[in-house]
Amino acid sequence: SSRTNVAILGMGTVGAGVARLLIDHGDRTARHAGKTIWLSKAVVRDLKKPRGIDLPEGVLTDSIDEVLNDPEIDVVVQLMGGLSPAREVMLRAMEAGKDIVTANKALLAEHGGELFTRARQLGRSIAFEAAVAGGVPIIANVSQCLSANQILSLEGILNGTSNFIVSQMDEKGAGYEETVKVAQDLGYAEADPAMDVDGTDAAQKLAILSHLAFGATVDWRDIPRSGIDGLNPADLRYASQLGYRIKLLATARLIDGELELSVGPTLVRKGTPMAEVRDAYNAIRVIGDAVGPVFYHGQGAGQMPTASAVVADIIDTAVGRTPITFQTLEYFSEDRPARAVQRD
Ligand code: NAP
Ligand code: HSE
Repeated sequence: SSRTNVAILGMGTVGAGVARLLIDHGDRTARHAGKTIWLSKAVVRDLKKPRGIDLPEGVLTDSIDEVLNDPEIDVVVQLMGGLSPAREVMLRAMEAGKDIVTANKALLAEHGGELFTRARQLGRSIAFEAAVAGGVPIIANVSQCLSANQILSLEGILNGTSNFIVSQMDEKGAGYEETVKVAQDLGYAEADPAMDVDGTDAAQKLAILSHLAFGATVDWRDIPRSGIDGLNPADLRYASQLGYRIKLLATARLIDGELELSVGPTLVRKGTPMAEVRDAYNAIRVIGDAVGPVFYHGQGAGQMPTASAVVADIIDTAVGRTPITFQTLEYFSEDRPARAVQRD
């Protein structure tokens, strides 16, 4: 058809950004997709809450069923967050013949096996570039651009909120509690910011990247992890005096055929690219056996950087350009044996 109809589930930080791009840049998305990408529905819980965006008449609804039962809707963009009802809604949407785009890493890390297996059975796609590192195209790079390589290691700053908090404390002497609040106000944090600061979000993203980079099935809970919530401002000062910054690093390394995974505050020498990653930026250093080291850096959280990745996925889905999804379907399939081990 000459038009792809899109429904967004969730009009929070990311959903409103996606709606804005689809509405304001319809000419650009049409040029890239070769057809119109049309925002048909946007689902919220509270119809009265201000959204900061002018949606055309009839788009906003509080009924998920209205979307699932509408045969005209081709792509469901799941930006509600959380596990339930997000999981059930995604399954029902695929059963109703709709392709999925999502930024929900918690859901993929928890139920990826089930969701991707079901997508394969139904011939549907799930695109999720925005689920890891926001606007940084790390999913496409690891699963497509570096596919000729055996990935040897992958390490990075995968949680924007933690990096924002540590940067503000380190460079401006800001207090922990007040900075968590600022990260929430700027739209970086999860609905429950504990997931950001205790290392959960970074571990979930690392589990997803490990599927793609190493073909390993990893339960994010098995990844040894600590967050920045236990950091003392004095730790940052001492590290600085010794020439280091402290960064929440997520690391996956292939050692003797086994995968070592961890998430935790790590000393990084000042002046190196990883140490200079500021605010809610993310960075990932990947080493492939053919390409050598590659470094990715950009905004890992926030409205428009994340929307940038989501809308690119919508365009790819509209034109059926989903090789990433095909590959990840294999990796996520539940019967693939785990070959990751964790060491403290
Ligand atoms: P958010 O601001 O909390 O927005 C969530 C939206 O979902 C709200 O509009 C909410 O409706 C709606 N919603 C929640 N439960 C619903 C339900 N049962 N039925 C209908 N609508 C429901 O979250 P966000 O920051 O945009 O994040 C969305 C997803 O993207 C999450 O999975 C998050 O992990 C991921 N993500 C976020 C970022 C970021 O920088 N924020 C970056 C990458 C990925 P109401 O507004 O009416 O309450
Ligand atoms: N809360 C997440 C972060 C959003 O701070 O990185 C991006 O996934």
